[in-house]
Amino acid sequence: MSAWCCVNGRYGPIDEATVPINDRGFLFGDSVYEVFHVHDGRLWAAERHYRRLGRSLEAIGLNADLEAIRGWVDETLRQSRLAEAMVYLHVTRGVAPRNHAFPPDLKPTVVITVRPLVAMPEAERRRGVKAITVPEVRWRRRDIKSTNLLPNVLAKQQAIRAGAYEALFVEADGTVNEGSSTNVFLVRDGALHTPAKGPQILPGITRDLLVETAREQGYAVEERTVKLSELFEADEVFLSGTTTEALGVVEVDSRRIADGQVGLVTRGLFEAYSERVRQGRD
Ligand SMILES: Cc1ncc(COP(=O)(O)O)c(C=O)c1O
Repeated sequence: MSAWCCVNGRYGPIDEATVPINDRGFLFGDSVYEVFHVHDGRLWAAERHYRRLGRSLEAIGLNADLEAIRGWVDETLRQSRLAEAMVYLHVTRGVAPRNHAFPPDLKPTVVITVRPLVAMPEAERRRGVKAITVPEVRWRRRDIKSTNLLPNVLAKQQAIRAGAYEALFVEADGTVNEGSSTNVFLVRDGALHTPAKGPQILPGITRDLLVETAREQGYAVEERTVKLSELFEADEVFLSGTTTEALGVVEVDSRRIADGQVGLVTRGLFEAYSERVRQGRD
């Protein structure tokens, strides 16, 4: 089976599912989401994703039944019969006549989709990807995994138009925040550096797992402010994300990073991360 979904506990093919036009997720982006990677039929890093979902829901004052949601996610995945998949989970504040203010006690809308996920071809991963930079124009609560993704969508599209994989959001003072759907790391003199967590970035689950994996492997990891100029002086730059995992960046704004090849630290971390996935150690 492929592309299965669940809307408030009702299961079926994605193409047949609908939500009402007065859903606040549709009207206002009044909703939060999570994306899970399913490896070998297992929801990878489930607890971490549900914890972050709980934080996002709390941050926007949305009460949803997390236990029911977890049951629906498991059942949608089971019915999909997919082993390598991506689970998208979207919780909106619910349905009400359009008005910015929300009535109390709305029933949240919960949408879950499961789609097959094809791994990035090995040759592509070995070659690495290009990135561009774009001005940081987003709101100041990027730690909430909100579905208000218009700036991210436009940035990604700009990257694709430029023949790149990702767009990195950079503040006017040169501070690098994150990609449109990834976090970013640099490697310099054998140590890793990545923007510190806070309202300026999404606390990526893969970011955390890679920080832990790198430390286990003996690397120093500094979580701090990273400047764009540092990317150009780095030995390696890589992106992290649920479906991206650890992916080397070999060019930023048409400037080569180091020798323009995916570095050994990135490669080694990707392999260690893949091993961790195989072990189910999340
Ligand atoms: C803006 C942004 N930053 C970072 C990430 C990476 O987070 P995760 O590793 O949890 O997928 C995402 C993932 O969608 C994202 O949208």
